[in-house]
Amino acid sequence: MKAVVLGSGGWGTALSQILCDNGHETYLWSHNPAKAAEMVRTRENPLLKGVYLSEALRITGDLDCLKGADLVVSAPPSFAVRETAKKMAPYLTEKSVVVSVSKGIERDTNLRLSQVIGEETGNLCPVVALSGPSHAEEVGIRMPTGCVAACRDADAARFAQDAFMNDYFRVYTSGDIVGVELAGALKNVIALSCGVCDGLGYQDNTKALLMTRAMAEITRLGEKLGGSRQTFGGLAGMGDLIVTCTSMHSRNRRAGILIGQGKTPQEAMKEVGAVVEGYFAALSIHQLSQRAGVEMPISRCAYEVLYEGKQVKNVVTELMTRAKKDELLETVRP
Ligand SMILES: NC(=O)c1ccc[n+]([C@@H]2O[C@H](COP(=O)([O-])OP(=O)(O)OC[C@H]3O[C@@H](n4cnc5c(N)ncnc54)[C@H](O)[C@@H]3O)[C@@H](O)[C@H]2O)c1
Repeated sequence: MKAVVLGSGGWGTALSQILCDNGHETYLWSHNPAKAAEMVRTRENPLLKGVYLSEALRITGDLDCLKGADLVVSAPPSFAVRETAKKMAPYLTEKSVVVSVSKGIERDTNLRLSQVIGEETGNLCPVVALSGPSHAEEVGIRMPTGCVAACRDADAARFAQDAFMNDYFRVYTSGDIVGVELAGALKNVIALSCGVCDGLGYQDNTKALLMTRAMAEITRLGEKLGGSRQTFGGLAGMGDLIVTCTSMHSRNRRAGILIGQGKTPQEAMKEVGAVVEGYFAALSIHQLSQRAGVEMPISRCAYEVLYEGKQVKNVVTELMTRAKKDELLETVRP
């Protein structure tokens, strides 16, 4: 099979290495030809340091590598998903399968990323969302990892499962693409908030409280928008929340730590030096939750800190002293 990965960040690179390990004819495309040439020369991606890129992996800056591709992986940062989909569209056929691996919600439209790809490709072929607790740095060195391939078209989900699965990358299928994509996007804001807790010096109790209550609000919105409740307790939901809230690989968490230590969001993102998806997702989630009438106290507070200059200390007090509630019923005590 011929597979092309569009987007040579850490994640696109790690996934292209999996496809290569699985014996597929694999291309890794970079939108920056000079960067592609440098990777060909060094067999390394500076965004995935220490991972040797096998000779079988074809690295290129030429979009014509898409000719005849059976599988196209869309792996740019979420802000570039639409322009990348535009680029792939002329090369797709009804038999192609696109796998979307970016995590986010499109700014302005608030669409899920598979919807963005569908719009730009005229829904010619199925789009699968691949998501789960998966740091590129660990997949790159072949540490056992699990993800979910979600699509309403079960054949397409199985196609992606077959393409990626091997003895260090386990893939489950799911029909709930809405839940899988939302879970992946919503948790980035929580990872950032968890980082803020770290930056403020809070420890395990506070982070467990934050993660658990965040799961409740993420699930509330996800269900309202058409996702299945169980998905949020699965790999793309709880699994990804755990991995991003507890790891220094997470740039969302790293940005949050800096904000908790007193930096402004802009200073924090500059220091992290890479795309902090949670910052952008916070705005989309705020809009989506307002429109859907779903209460999301933690995400709302993150939005107020990131976009309205609210002080993190004040936000913590506000969250802790909200109206008294029942944990499961969500009802306020009279
Ligand atoms: N890194 C991970 O472990 C991981 C895991 C799962 C999902 N993701 C998701 O994958 C997406 C990509 O993340 P990443 O970590 O690989 O990013 P990264 O920060 O490592 O790299 C971003 C890449 O995007 C490229 N890029 C910038 N503008 C572009 C454009 N206009 N068109 C095409 N490419 C462009 C950059 O050159 C760079 O190679 C994000 O949505 C992220 O949430 C990342």
